[in-house]
Amino acid sequence: MDESDEEIDRAIEAVGSADKIAVLTGAGMSVESGIAPFRGEGGLWEKFDAEEYATINTLHKNPEKSWELFKVQIEEVIDAEPHEGYDALVELEKKGVDEVITQNVDGLHEKAGSSDVLELHGTLLELSCIDCGNGFRTRDHFSDISEGKIPKCECGGIMRPDAALFGEQLDPSVMERSLYAARESDLMLVIGTSAVVQPAASLPSMAKRSGADILEINLDSTPLTQSISDIFLKGKAAKMLSYLVDEFD
Ligand code: OAD
Repeated sequence: MDESDEEIDRAIEAVGSADKIAVLTGAGMSVESGIAPFRGEGGLWEKFDAEEYATINTLHKNPEKSWELFKVQIEEVIDAEPHEGYDALVELEKKGVDEVITQNVDGLHEKAGSSDVLELHGTLLELSCIDCGNGFRTRDHFSDISEGKIPKCECGGIMRPDAALFGEQLDPSVMERSLYAARESDLMLVIGTSAVVQPAASLPSMAKRSGADILEINLDSTPLTQSISDIFLKGKAAKMLSYLVDEFD
């Protein structure tokens, strides 16, 4: 048995003995579903400068530029399918997972069937008119989007995805429920996030301060790994999550 087997055993025990499990996911959760992360090699921010493309200011001043980024993101997520790690999280609802907090905007937790998902950064799968606020399904406007056109509302306003941009406030009710879930949990699974973007990055330390253990799953260590993670499973989300549920079949 090597060190990682021991960590997996500790993780299985932690999940088995927890009453309330909160989950926080980031882009690494969706990499195996074919969606690029933001940071690191092959990340979206290598191709697009986040401060130039992903801000609310850019959307207002230069929507064509924002839509260059949205098009790439929407094309990646529109037909993406959840992998076995998503199914594992649905299974783990029986073991105490009651809230999945995600920074991802790809809708994959819902698609997999997780019942309580808090989309902290919103979703790319819905659009709103920036003038009248009317809502639309991204899929219904996908042919325009894939042709490089900016979808327009009947009122003449342009649409935008309901995903948060830098410089925007997150939905306060979703944030509040996320904080509550973090504080109430006795175990938080932190999966595939670099944990550098606030306020999501603070949720694990809030959970920890309220008495939760932190089980981190990531390919690489993060600012949480040496500071607050009690258990660190170094590896891919799909495989590591499958180990956790196999034990409870
Ligand atoms: P990042 O791209 O910053 O980090 C992805 C993390 O996933 C890294 O720590 C990787 O090591 C890890 N990772 C990659 N592949 C993995 C795999 N197969 N299994 C497990 N881990 C893997 O993504 P986030 O932390 O989600 O916000 O980024 C947070 C926010 O920054 C995003 O929501 C987005 C971005 O700017 C906005 O755009 C507002």
